[in-house]
Amino acid sequence: MSKSPNIFIPALGGTALAVGLAYGVASRDYGADKIELLETRLGQVEANAMTATEKAKAEAARAAELEARVAEMHAAAAERSAIAVNLTAPEIDGSLAIGRPALPEEIAAWDVDVLPDGRGLPAGSGNAFDGEEIFVDKCAACHGDFAEGVDNWPVLAGGFDTLGDKDPVKTVGSYWPHLSTVWDYVNRSMPFGEAGTLTPDETYAIVAYILYSNDLIDDEFELTRDNLGTFEMPNGGGFVIDDRPAQEYAKWRTEPCMENCKEEVAVTMRSVFLVETPEEGGSESTMNHASVEELPTFSAAGPSFIPVAAEKPREDAPAETPTEETEAAAATEPTDGNAELVAAGEKVFKKCKACHQIGEGAKNRSGPQLNALMGRTMGAVDGFEYSAAFQDALDAGRIWDEASLAGFLAKPKAYMKGTKMSFSGLRKDGDVEAVTEYLKTFGE
Ligand code: HEC
Ligand code: HEC
Repeated sequence: MSKSPNIFIPALGGTALAVGLAYGVASRDYGADKIELLETRLGQVEANAMTATEKAKAEAARAAELEARVAEMHAAAAERSAIAVNLTAPEIDGSLAIGRPALPEEIAAWDVDVLPDGRGLPAGSGNAFDGEEIFVDKCAACHGDFAEGVDNWPVLAGGFDTLGDKDPVKTVGSYWPHLSTVWDYVNRSMPFGEAGTLTPDETYAIVAYILYSNDLIDDEFELTRDNLGTFEMPNGGGFVIDDRPAQEYAKWRTEPCMENCKEEVAVTMRSVFLVETPEEGGSESTMNHASVEELPTFSAAGPSFIPVAAEKPREDAPAETPTEETEAAAATEPTDGNAELVAAGEKVFKKCKACHQIGEGAKNRSGPQLNALMGRTMGAVDGFEYSAAFQDALDAGRIWDEASLAGFLAKPKAYMKGTKMSFSGLRKDGDVEAVTEYLKTFGE
């Protein structure tokens, strides 16, 4: 019998104390008077034990129960180690016989990566039509109904031709070189906070919907295990293989040059970008606000002073370099007192931002720039490749006014059959009016 029952003796209260005392008496050489004293105590304790009989009984039962569980666990452990012994551990010089080879099921649970050529994909398929429903349900809260991104959540569509810009819009469509990464990433980590809940078919359908949102497939295209690996992404050729071992490592292996060194080293520029999530949409990093003059110089005597962290300029103070935000703010200065509507419209315009620029220096993106839209002929922005639908509208001399814009923004595809604007329309009451007011604040 194991020693484990002893552990439970203190839990037996009075009875336990009695047993403990008896043990003490038997094992030590006490004088007669001491023994008498102890016998008296024992008597008292036994009396207590009698009054506590009910309690003790319950506790004894509990102890027996626990003891049985301990025995059960011992048996299970013994069984398990017997199994472990049978699964012969890998031998390393015969000395480190720890562990055992992973079981095929264990390897499968970890080995979920999908390679660019599609290896590792499970069986399954899906199309954008089904994907839209799942995406709207599980992803749109953060990524927008059309994968255009809500607030600061990542944009998954559009941004084509922006990779050379200061603030490229890197989306699945514009940036990701392999479709396998989308499958793998979504499968492993999305929906955010509920990773691992999508079935393979759901994931295929969602990936198809993301492609559709990027205008890369039509809604009948069936994405499958067999064709995913061969799908060519727009930026597939935009990456180079890392060949630093061949190109660079040799250079660092030569003796460092320690001649003609400068006597004093001064920091002339600060390359630190605070990795701060911008408060409004867009992907601009915030520049560190410290100026070069405030930075110390370093010499043999040490730094000229220890810098303290520079304070951020106050929100309402004009920033040194105008950002998109301040330009937009300046441009939206309302003249006719409808500031609220314009502000609401600016928010709505976040839905458009993934594809349209507006304001000073606005360029064509996946959609045309939208400056001075009211009164503008449809399909008339230089250098933008419109769909045939808009070319027809241009030829017909159709003009943007409040009515036509309202019709178009409510249901783009219905209003302008064949338009390539992948946007299903503004559904919320007041959004069209608000965004129209916002658009009106931008002239040439
Ligand atoms: C609760 C908000 C939320 C939900 C819902 C959500 N995502 Fe995301 N998603 C994020 C965040 C945040 C990131 C950025 C994570 C990071 O960078 O570590 C992200 C990143 C992504 C990216 C990578 C974007 C990039 O360019 O790096 C993809 C693709 C994506 N999500 C797809 C999905 C899909 C598909 C679903 C639905 C099945 C989904 N997400 C649901 C918040 C969400
Ligand atoms: C997914 C990208 C995308 C989104 C989002 C988007 N657009 Fe467009 N938009 C386009 C494209 C592409 C065109 C050109 C359509 C064509 O040629 O058929 C276009 C055309 C337009 C035009 C016609 C411009 C002209 O020169 O005649 C207007 C106006 C417009 N969009 C407004 C909006 C507004 C307002 C929103 C937001 C509520 C929005 N768009 C959202 C891509 C988008």
